[in-house]
Amino acid sequence: MSFEKNILCIGAGYVGGPTMAMIAHKCPQYRVTVVDIDPERIAQWNSDDLPIYEPGLVEIVKAARGRNLFFSTEVEEGIKESEIIFVSVNTPTKTFGAGAGMAADLQYWDKTARQIRKHSESNKIIVEKSTLPVKTAQAMERILTSADNGIRFDVLSNPEFLAEGTAIKDLEDPDRVLIGSTQTREGLKARDVLVEIYSNWIRAERIITSNIWSSELSKLVANAFLAQRISSINSISALCEKADADVEEVARAVGMDSRVGSRFLSASVGFGGSCFKKDILNLVYLCRYYDLKEVADYWEGVVKINDYQKERFILNMLNIMFNTLANKRICLFGFAFKADTGDTRESPAIFVAKRLIEEKAKVVITDPKALKNAMKDLRDVAGEISYVEDPYEASAGCSAIAVMTEWKIYGDLDYKKIYRSMAKPAFIFDGRNILDHEKLFKIGFNVFPIGKPGLTHF
Ligand code: UDX
Repeated sequence: MSFEKNILCIGAGYVGGPTMAMIAHKCPQYRVTVVDIDPERIAQWNSDDLPIYEPGLVEIVKAARGRNLFFSTEVEEGIKESEIIFVSVNTPTKTFGAGAGMAADLQYWDKTARQIRKHSESNKIIVEKSTLPVKTAQAMERILTSADNGIRFDVLSNPEFLAEGTAIKDLEDPDRVLIGSTQTREGLKARDVLVEIYSNWIRAERIITSNIWSSELSKLVANAFLAQRISSINSISALCEKADADVEEVARAVGMDSRVGSRFLSASVGFGGSCFKKDILNLVYLCRYYDLKEVADYWEGVVKINDYQKERFILNMLNIMFNTLANKRICLFGFAFKADTGDTRESPAIFVAKRLIEEKAKVVITDPKALKNAMKDLRDVAGEISYVEDPYEASAGCSAIAVMTEWKIYGDLDYKKIYRSMAKPAFIFDGRNILDHEKLFKIGFNVFPIGKPGLTHF
């Protein structure tokens, strides 16, 4: 069967995999291939046990795989055969040299650009899908065109706004799709090709276009604004705890102002995920580069408040549990950075677990999807850590439960049974404010939510 377009995606991660699965699902007339240098990852994409968990993902992958969706390690062949290449490789924060701890590490990007240049035999549209510092598309174009081999490359920026745990819903019905291009005749023509792909299932008014740098910057700014809301409400949670106010009541009253809006105002132990911190630090780096010190400091404050919130959580536990956690068993309910994902990148639970170990506590971790990742994250930590799938078993004998992830199951457990099995006095620190605090208090727990007064039997 011949296909209308051959689409390639380099990088089979949290963005590349689901995005390509959605294109293949919505556009049976296109052939979509996802390549990655990691054979194990590709083998997982070709199995029933996908490398990432996303509600609804396995169904669409299974339906399209082998029909018009393919996963492979043949990067060179994939480049040769495609007209459109999405690049979705990882861009972690640099750990070395200039900008270490802040700027994006672009080595995988650079390598991919050179690989595309080397193996291309025909004109291509390159779509930047990873979140990148502003002006990366330009750098990519320069690398690609430096071969001077008569092949034309048009680079577009098409940031992905999907959130983990709701990837399929977000891809199927996005708030917007943003496509940045150069404003030349060729740039606009390439842009229209990508608009046509998305038009297969997304309404025209939701597909917006801009210049390439606005597009790149928009992704950083969108994430910075979202994270800023969380840091704002988390900073107020600290005040509420001192002033006997209730952060949920405050958030409700504030969020009902339609200019503010009610979403992303849940106080928590802190935000995590692969994007927020990385993108803000990228933005901060960019501002510093342009000598905008005040702007850089302003956005850096969002990350600082997040670090403060995580440390505050530990110090509260320590203070409330009689200033010592040594030898106490503490159970973390959840390890993923949010519910409905097995992803633990930048999860506040990593910080909390490490700090508990520093305090010489014994840590028991339970999570319905993230235990494997938790083990990897903590493999170098010397201390007593155990991983237990069943939350009842995990919490038995513990002095405290700390809710790290807002998994729905934690709201549905039999807390009378849990209370009976725990050491006394028993504490619950609800880092997500998802439990019924009054009910837990009546059972006998000492309950400490975020941003509201604790309920204690002492
Ligand atoms: C985010 C952006 O939402 C998405 O648009 C972008 O493409 C990638 O980064 P993601 O990291 O998947 O997505 O998760 P998100 O739902 O934004 O949550 C980030 C963190 O903030 C999580 O740890 C979450 O638990 C926390 N959070 C979120 C809060 O603490 N309070 C809230 O009110 C909302």
